[in-house]
Amino acid sequence: MVFSDIHTPSYIIDEKKLRENLELLSDVQEKSGCRILLAQKAFSAFSEYPLIGRYLAGATASGLYEAKLSSEEMGKENHIFSPAYRESEIEEIAKICDHVIFNSFSQLAKYGGTVKSIQEKRGITDGIGLRINPECSTQDEPIYDPCAPGSRLGITLENFKRGVADYPDAFGYVSGLHFHTLCEQGFEPLRKTYDAVEDKFGEYLNLPQIKWLNMGGGHHITKADYDRDGLIALIQEIKGKYRKHHSDTGSAGMAYQNTAGEADGIDVYLEPGEAIALNAGYLVTEVMDIVENDISILVLDASAACHMPDVLEMPYRPPLRDSGLAGEKKYTYRLSSCTCLAGDIIGDYSFDNEIKVGDRLVFEDMAIYSMVKNNTFNGIGLPSIYAMDEDGNCRLVKEFGYEDFKMRLS
Ligand SMILES: Cc1ncc(COP(=O)(O)O)c(C=O)c1O
Repeated sequence: MVFSDIHTPSYIIDEKKLRENLELLSDVQEKSGCRILLAQKAFSAFSEYPLIGRYLAGATASGLYEAKLSSEEMGKENHIFSPAYRESEIEEIAKICDHVIFNSFSQLAKYGGTVKSIQEKRGITDGIGLRINPECSTQDEPIYDPCAPGSRLGITLENFKRGVADYPDAFGYVSGLHFHTLCEQGFEPLRKTYDAVEDKFGEYLNLPQIKWLNMGGGHHITKADYDRDGLIALIQEIKGKYRKHHSDTGSAGMAYQNTAGEADGIDVYLEPGEAIALNAGYLVTEVMDIVENDISILVLDASAACHMPDVLEMPYRPPLRDSGLAGEKKYTYRLSSCTCLAGDIIGDYSFDNEIKVGDRLVFEDMAIYSMVKNNTFNGIGLPSIYAMDEDGNCRLVKEFGYEDFKMRLS
């Protein structure tokens, strides 16, 4: 099936672009020795997990359901972070997750022992981590800044010191530190953040019990202008400076020797979401009607509110194929949808040719934070999901109907 034969609205996953992104990430892994995980919150198209699993170390989850998905569909390293875990879920999480990261000492104290004993039965001895807050903002949007004042995400240095003093036994379970502070950023903000982490938490990174550091997501590694050499050098620097120590002998300070007789650096993890499927998907929509009110308004069968909620939440203007800014090309239109929300407006775009009812428009960069966030507000149907192979052939992966709308209501 070719692009023009698919029904609308639909998301199309571009497998060629996905593979190209994965190759760049795999190169970073190979050259730096880090391990990269798919952050499923951005992209959970599990029909592509076998492909992703061929290149990456595994996946990370925001809760039990995403953890189950990667356990079932990827079957590689499985990590999880949540600000808090449910008592009823923690055992299942420990059974399927290799790293369980806690957001507070109280959560660590509550569940650390359970997780440790379940993981040890699975042969995992370094699976518990704590998320830290380096209190180093590198962006201006408080909604996307876990370092913003009053943030609940990550443990500040002051609280960390208190936690180590108050919960010494639980702290003994900890084998790794995690931070996530970036959003769609280049290498320099990571460097700045890492320096803040080292400055504040360096004494903990140096402890013999620490076996890994997870630097979260928000790295736009697959963007053309990303400084991948800088990233590789930083990871090598970390691995060179912080070394793994024997945990089984309990001999603090003794460097771990691998079979080649060399001491290992700690494991460094990155867990980007966006970078994995950046520019690797489209949302194809049809023009249903055109109404006039000062400006010509296209009524589309896709909706910002339902199918690309980040357009309203971020907010941002999604790239649209063969279009320009308002007034840049001959014909300017406002793009909107069939919902009742007056503000369900995607933006004003211009075109070389007049647009007619029945025409198709293609929004770009629609693989990430789209399918995972869509909804059926107003009873609007969910877009079908297609995959486009390396030769440009499209195959239908999934379609949705009335039952999918009804199923979530009572
Ligand atoms: C803890 C954590 N890890 C990874 C990510 C993925 O970030 P991104 O998709 O921006 O790379 C997020 C996003 O919010 C996150 O909160």
